[in-house]
Amino acid sequence: MNTTHIAVIAGLLVGVTIGSWTHAAAVEPTSQSKIPDVSQVAPKPPMGWNSWNHFAGRVTDADIRSAADFLVSTGMRDAGYVYVNIDDTWQGKRDAHGVLHSNERFPDMKALSDYVHTKGLKFGIYSSPGARTCAGYEGSLGHEVDDARMYAAWGVDFLKYDLCSLREDMKKAKAEHPDDADVTKNMMIAAYRKMGDALRGSGRTIVYSLCQYGVDQPWTWGPSVGASLWRTTGDISDSYARMSKIGFGQAGLARFAGAGHWNDPDMLEIGNGKMSEDEYRTHMSLWALLAAPLLAGNDLSKMGEADRRILTNKDAIGIDQDALGKQGDRLYQDGDVDVWTRPLSGGRVAVGLFNRGANAREISIELAKVGFAGGARLRDVWKEKDLGPHSGTFTDTVPTHGVALLIVGSP
Ligand code: GAL
Repeated sequence: MNTTHIAVIAGLLVGVTIGSWTHAAAVEPTSQSKIPDVSQVAPKPPMGWNSWNHFAGRVTDADIRSAADFLVSTGMRDAGYVYVNIDDTWQGKRDAHGVLHSNERFPDMKALSDYVHTKGLKFGIYSSPGARTCAGYEGSLGHEVDDARMYAAWGVDFLKYDLCSLREDMKKAKAEHPDDADVTKNMMIAAYRKMGDALRGSGRTIVYSLCQYGVDQPWTWGPSVGASLWRTTGDISDSYARMSKIGFGQAGLARFAGAGHWNDPDMLEIGNGKMSEDEYRTHMSLWALLAAPLLAGNDLSKMGEADRRILTNKDAIGIDQDALGKQGDRLYQDGDVDVWTRPLSGGRVAVGLFNRGANAREISIELAKVGFAGGARLRDVWKEKDLGPHSGTFTDTVPTHGVALLIVGSP
């Protein structure tokens, strides 16, 4: 037993008693005054790295240390990628005192967290409001306060909280209360609120990231449970079809995001090898226009230069992290052409001209349509080039599944 476990057990002995969640624990109505103010916890979309997309259930302590090392040596940390997040499968067993231990692949979480912090990075972890995580490991149901305290003792800065086995309990509750239209939604919100409260009571600032695949519009209630971000979709995979379905499917959600509260269309697949460079540029461009959290999910130890340049492009990151904190949206779609805009600070606008078709093609945009009837100064993000003043219509040739990403400002 290490010092962390002793501290956590001491916490339990001073009288924290937690019962399992039951349907009877109804959701309290959310009044404006009850909404926790977490606007300063993640004032900009969080950036970092997460183990799941590449390492999945094989992840080890050594992989996390290596990711931390490579975030520094590749320049990713200095570009803004600071969270190092362990996803599912770190958990071991809960002992008789209710303390959850990490498994043999993670011999000492506090030491790992310390290592990550010495690199100028932040440390993230994963759990579930259910009894089991999606990979079948121990979840936090009935142990929310114990677990939040342990995270604080470990120095955790970010928690991804994934619905997983709570869905089974929700199905049972629905079967028992078929006439209650909101039974599953209320149950889910109560479970997420419980951990949100526990995190805020833990004595440490921990970014709270909801993962429940966009069920029941979390963008409408995420802030009320103390979340800084919430997944809006099912899982991404390293394919253009899936990435573009998710990314282009985000139209209409812009008004639910803002400084401190972010829609999360899932983590990045850039560098995992199954999309072309143009497709990865589309991925990065869409996520930047969407003010999405940027959590890289590749094996940083094997990252090639093209992927590194995409992930660290200063202008793309600048769009994502823009001070105005306004998410972008679709301007129009016309066949294979999809045009998205995002208002930026300083009266500028980011414009993405996407070619979703199978052949390269010209795409034109009337500058008046993006608010610059009198002409504008353009910068091409991926060519890393100022294009100078333009008026009327701007036209570019865009490769298949590619994008021209522009920053448009006053002339
Ligand atoms: C999924 C989640 C993924 C990953 C996985 C781990 O539910 O959406 O991002 O966390 O579980 O088991």
